[in-house]
Amino acid sequence: MSNIWKTKPLKQLLAHADDSEKGLKRSLSATSLVALGIGAIIGAGLFSLTGIAAADNAGPAVVYSFILAAVGCAFAGLCYAEFASMIPVAGSAYTYSYATMGEFIAWIIGWDLVLEYALGAATVAVSWSQYVAKFLHSVGVDLPPSLLHSPWDEVSGIVNLPAILIVCLLSLLLIRGTKESALLNNILVILKVTVVLVFIALGWGFIDSANHTPFIPTNEGEVLMSSGKMSFMEFFGSDYFGHYGWSGILRGAGVVFFAFIGFDAVSTAAQEAKNPQKGMPIGIIGSLVICTLLYVLFAFVLTGLENYLNFKGDASPVTTAFAKTGYTFLNSSLTIAIIAGYTSVMLVMLMGQSRVFYSMSIDGLLPKTFSELHKKNKTPWKTNLIFMVFVSIFAGFVPVSDLGHMVSIGTLFAFALVCVGVMMMRKSNPDAVRGFRVPLVPLIPVLGIIICVALMAGLPIESWERLGIWLGLGLLIYFFYGKKHSKLNNE
Ligand code: ALA
Repeated sequence: MSNIWKTKPLKQLLAHADDSEKGLKRSLSATSLVALGIGAIIGAGLFSLTGIAAADNAGPAVVYSFILAAVGCAFAGLCYAEFASMIPVAGSAYTYSYATMGEFIAWIIGWDLVLEYALGAATVAVSWSQYVAKFLHSVGVDLPPSLLHSPWDEVSGIVNLPAILIVCLLSLLLIRGTKESALLNNILVILKVTVVLVFIALGWGFIDSANHTPFIPTNEGEVLMSSGKMSFMEFFGSDYFGHYGWSGILRGAGVVFFAFIGFDAVSTAAQEAKNPQKGMPIGIIGSLVICTLLYVLFAFVLTGLENYLNFKGDASPVTTAFAKTGYTFLNSSLTIAIIAGYTSVMLVMLMGQSRVFYSMSIDGLLPKTFSELHKKNKTPWKTNLIFMVFVSIFAGFVPVSDLGHMVSIGTLFAFALVCVGVMMMRKSNPDAVRGFRVPLVPLIPVLGIIICVALMAGLPIESWERLGIWLGLGLLIYFFYGKKHSKLNNE
């Protein structure tokens, strides 16, 4: 009789990780892992959404939104670090939940991670193509708008062709091997951190304090509420909620949360880390800390250079703000570096996706095709090819805002479950060797869950419905395929 709640014994997981004969190559150092994290983290969220979140939600206080989102991610990040240092196998949150909450929840998480990684890559590909088009325009080359937009975009087109091209190119690169991809990633990371530093350093001297006053723009609803003219529930259901003031900071945090997505991708590469016990926590926490510092400074300078209201609907606020500095001749170089930065986000997301499906297939929950390794390169090349097609379809034909919300809700859901998993693992395997331990358990994981759920609650109702549909589809596949073929359940 199969049991869908059966957990995978820790011993079995670790034995698989040691099985390097047929496994993935262990080629990534701790520095490469930090770079992998930064590569996945800094991208469309910072370079596109900071301005939009400032204009629509938080004003200059988008700085606080970044801090709030970072705190939520830090709690989840600590939990990821404990798991990754303890179970250094590919598969990340999926594998951790298999060991703690059983096969059924593991399946849900694995399936849910497609939203984060595959759709995350598609979202960034769409923004990437907009930046590329803008750059080409600046050098006198104009691509036809019908080849830059999906049929469902506000400016409707036929297909987003550059987005599809970049997805295909990066998928093929991943098939060649992790080491090569990590090298390219390191170069891209250096470029993009340089852009952020240059922007902060050169912009700092041009900050106009008038743009920072008031730092938290007034929310009329909050004023009505504090004078007793509106109840909290009325406020929550009104259009006031989320537009400036403290509620704006909260909603802004939900928006810029996208900018932090990716640090967990480090954990998907656990099986390729040279010394995972040490490397995983350094990779996850290190990349998160560095990015938070950069984000807060970046947001402060951005909103100081230009009035936040002027960023409305502006997908490239960097160029807009930088115009105030007198260093406009650097604009093209910045754009090129930003384009490069987006590339590394997509690279890590696509890699993370293939590693999760690799693990699910090894466990029998998905067909064998997904875990077949390339003879020479040792990469799960068939998964890479399948996701190349899947991600291309989304990148080419789905509007970016719909994609972005799906990515955020799916990721927050996974983060919350990883926090639950850490507490369960402490109970079920208290003595297992942990290279890193989350401090103050259960306080930190519980706070992580609360923040993730609060940020999910701030997202539009349609994203909840789509999450429901996606998970429903996943359940069908599990009950018709995964459950019957599960290795653990049919031993
Ligand atoms: N954090 C990634 C980005 O902002 C997904 O592009």
